Amino acid sequence: MINPRIITIDGPAGAGKSTLAKEISKRFGYTHLDSGAIYRAIGFASKEMGIDLNNEIEVLEIAKKLKIELKGSRVFVNGKDVTEEIRTPEGGVLASQVAQHREVREVVVKILRNLAQGKKVVIDGRDAGTYIFPEAQLKIYLTASPEERAKRRYRELVEKGFKVSYEQVLKEVVERDKKDKSRKFAPLTVPKGAVIIDSTGKSLEQVLNEVKKLIDP
Ligand code: DC
Repeated sequence: MINPRIITIDGPAGAGKSTLAKEISKRFGYTHLDSGAIYRAIGFASKEMGIDLNNEIEVLEIAKKLKIELKGSRVFVNGKDVTEEIRTPEGGVLASQVAQHREVREVVVKILRNLAQGKKVVIDGRDAGTYIFPEAQLKIYLTASPEERAKRRYRELVEKGFKVSYEQVLKEVVERDKKDKSRKFAPLTVPKGAVIIDSTGKSLEQVLNEVKKLIDP
């Protein structure tokens, strides 16, 4: 396939989706859409406003009101840069909670489809190839063993100065997988027609080489 307009990357937490998406964006001239960042932003805003994240109606109201912008790799909510704030382990848990709500997901899909208009985009998430852009020309399902994913997340968090244990991170990875795969609406699954890449034991460069052959064989 040459020159796909939309590339989707789905897969479980910590598989390296956003790192891969960023590299594809840089090397092949695509706009990167980080769909998880939007759920994280909504989760954070909901928490800040003190509402119950299980209350779909209240979360939905907030999701509709927020002005969420993605500028390069920065995320802005109502004009405020929240990039670092939302990338915490807590941000992941909050995102996973608000992502359970069907109508909230519909709002997020609209935001993403608008952002993608007229552009070449690479988007990473859980339902990018199944629900957000089922028409995408290239779909990738990126995965790795839970242990490897936990190891990567653990290193990343320690580098950022978080005090966490490997066991705790592994437990969270397994729990998040379960939640993302078992949710009623648009759960994490391998999209039809997706190329599965298992990144266990592979470097980013090795994975990129596999992707390069798919984009420009
Ligand atoms: O990719 P991430 O870690 O930033 O995602 C955080 C959470 O957001 C993830 O656990 C599930 C949810 N999410 C989703 O449901 N659908 C997406 N397309 C992206 C993220």
